[in-house]
This record gives sequence, C-alpha cells and structure tokens, in this order.
Amino acid sequence: MSSDEGLHNAHRLATLLSGGIRGGGYYPPGHPASRQPFIEMAQLASLLHREEGEIRVAVVDGVLAVGEHLFFAPTPPLQELCRRLEEKELLGINIKKGVSADDLTVLAKLLGQPGGGAEQLREGLKEASVATIEVREEETLSQTYAEAVGAIAEIFNEIGNGRIPNSRKMITVVTSLAATAVKEPATLIGLTMIKQYDNYTFQHSVNVGVLAMAISASMGLSPHEVEVAGMAGFLHDVGKTGINKMILNKPGKLSNEEFREMQRHSELGAEIVRQMEGVPEQVAEGVLGHHVRHDRTGYPEWARPLPLGVASAIVAVADCYDATTTLRAYQPPLAPKQAVERIRSMTGTGLDPEIVDRFLELTGKFPTGSLVRLDSNEIAVVMTPSREERGASVVKVLIDSDGKPLADPLVKNLALTGESVVDLVDPLLKGIDVSAYF
Ligand SMILES: [Fe+2]
Ligand SMILES: [Fe+2]
Repeated sequence: MSSDEGLHNAHRLATLLSGGIRGGGYYPPGHPASRQPFIEMAQLASLLHREEGEIRVAVVDGVLAVGEHLFFAPTPPLQELCRRLEEKELLGINIKKGVSADDLTVLAKLLGQPGGGAEQLREGLKEASVATIEVREEETLSQTYAEAVGAIAEIFNEIGNGRIPNSRKMITVVTSLAATAVKEPATLIGLTMIKQYDNYTFQHSVNVGVLAMAISASMGLSPHEVEVAGMAGFLHDVGKTGINKMILNKPGKLSNEEFREMQRHSELGAEIVRQMEGVPEQVAEGVLGHHVRHDRTGYPEWARPLPLGVASAIVAVADCYDATTTLRAYQPPLAPKQAVERIRSMTGTGLDPEIVDRFLELTGKFPTGSLVRLDSNEIAVVMTPSREERGASVVKVLIDSDGKPLADPLVKNLALTGESVVDLVDPLLKGIDVSAYF
C-alpha cells in the first residue's frame, strides 16, 4: 500500500468513526443503515494493519494521529472526533488486528455517550467483550518525543519573532523523558534513531537532549541534574536563531569570518536561556560551554577558563554522536557503530573521557539502531544493546536466514535464543530504513 493510500484510508476511517459516534443515537443496534459504515471501517482497519500491527488513534496538541498518519488541519468530522477524544481525556485508542464491525460499533456507541472518561470506556469495552480495542493508559515514548520536537519548534519560532520563549511545554517533556532515562537509559537512545530530515535543527536539538539525559542518568546523576542536561541539550543550538541564515545554511566550508560569526551561537544561546522562566542557571552554562572542549580549546574563548558544569561536557558528547549519525547535505550518515568509533577517537582532546566511557557502556558493542547479522544468518536491528559477548540483548529480525524479508519483524531476546551478533550490515546495501523500527 502506498503511503497516499494509507493516508486516504486513515482519513476515511476517522471520518466514518466520527459519523458513527454521531449516528449512534439515531439507529438501534443492528439496524442496516447503521451497520454499513462499521463494515467499511473494519475493512479499512485491516488495510491499515498492513502498515502497522495496531492503529493508534490519538490527539496530540490538536493534531489527530491515525496510525502513522497525522492530520494537522482536520475536516469538521475529524475535529468532532478530536473533540470527543479530548473530552474524555483519552491519551488514545489502539485498534488491533482482527477488529470487527461489531467491535467498532461498541466503540462508537461508548464514545458517543456524554461524560465519562478513559476508565468508563475501558469498562464498557470489557463488558461487551471487545478485546481488539484498547484504551491507552500512558503516552508512548515516541509521542513524548514528537511533543518535544513540537516544543522546540515553538521555542525557535518565538525567538524568531523576537519574543522570550515560553518554557512550560519543554519542561513538561523533559520531566517525563528524564523519568524514563533514570529507569532505562538505553531505551532513549533508540528514540534518537527516528530521523526526518526536513526539520533537522529541531530534531537534532531533541536528540541531543534525549542522549544527554540517557548519559547523565547512566552516570548516576540526580534527577534534577538529568533534567538540566536534557534542557541544555534541547537548547544547545538555540543561539543559531541569531546567526545569519546565509552562513547557517551554507553547504560548503565557512570562511574564517563566517566561522567566527557561527561560533557566536553558544553565547547567544546562553543569553536567551537565561531569560527563560523556570530554566535553571546551569542550563545556560551548559549551552555556553557545549563547544568548549575537554582540553580547554574551543569556543567562546573567554569561557575556556570558566568552571563549566558537567552538563556542557555531556551535551558535547551527545552533540557529536547525533551529528555523526545524521544524514546531511555534505556528509553521509555514519552507522551507530562508526559514530561510536569517532567519539572514541576524540576522547581526552575534545570530549571528557569519563563521560565517553559511560556513553560507550550504554551503547555496547553494537549500539541501538545498528543493523546486524546474527550467527543464524538472520538480519536484525538492535533494540537493546548489551555489553556481553552476544553483542545485543533484544533485536528485531527483519530478514530471515534464507534472505526473505519478514512482513512482521520478529522480536527476539538473544539471551533466550542463544544467538549472537556476528557483524554489522550496511542498511543502505539492504535498502532498509532502520528508523522505521523505532
Ligand atoms: Fe552548537
Ligand atoms: Fe548541535
């Protein structure tokens, strides 16, 4: 199915659901006029299930998401659906494989009832024995990530419009991501594999923040320090809003003068961050120092002798890792493993060895997002790395041992199957977009 077709199907499904919710009051259950749209919905759902195992329907910041499709300017029926979901304060609904017209009828009826919240909806589905529709309890990590990108985009825009940016949304997102970082730092690294190249600056900012939180959490820093590192990462390049666009977007090498102009982004950024409400002073320090190298070269020159906090050194490692794993006009992306090698080569000069050590511990031999060959000859992407001989802990198998691509990737725990990683595989050679699996 082409993604256009998917988009169309998602739109139609949401429109029918919206209509079903409104029509719920007019026809008795089982009436032929009320049944037809639900039959079509079930068919659309099964088409969409070919793209993804389950279809998530959710509203994030006024944007309706149906599976992987986003509707930024919803039509009136879609707006109506958003309103219903928001009214019930639902984080979202998951529609699983095998959903029937009857299941969807129950859903529409429950959504059409006034009042009630997630708990009531869940009860109603359970009572009607609907097992294919799930009310989402918690926001998924990738949703939080998307919100982070939105928050950063807003901050950049506000600065562009000459305003002091509001930090509220960013702080909410940082708090939630920091909590995950403390529990399972390696998971966060997987998030940074999601790369869409059209908004590089925002995504890079979020990735650096996410990586900084993973690193600081695995260093055993306090939750507050993890949040500081996260915010410093999110905002590290915010000063670029004050740099001439011609220089910023110049694909070739910068002249000395242009380079000096570009270097101002650290101190400009620190000045902006100092004005943001609720953002601790250490965040501004982290931003100021993110290009001061471990050997105290780097810029701004006047900041070299300052006692810069640990956040700037952490952000420097995160910045280096994300920049090297991203495709850019003038440089092909490096595989996670090669990016790790590059970081290793900068240890002691550009980067703090202790922080690099922690980072390498976190990434293991085959970092999250690496495409690898197992000793069973299967091709898989690393989800959870491991420091053990086996090379990875959890992987998703994409190609079986006969070289056949799997329709549904198979999640494997290598400790249980006894398999090991043999080698890295070049995703470009296999035509695989690794980021699609996170
Ligand atoms: Fe920078
Ligand atoms: Fe950067």
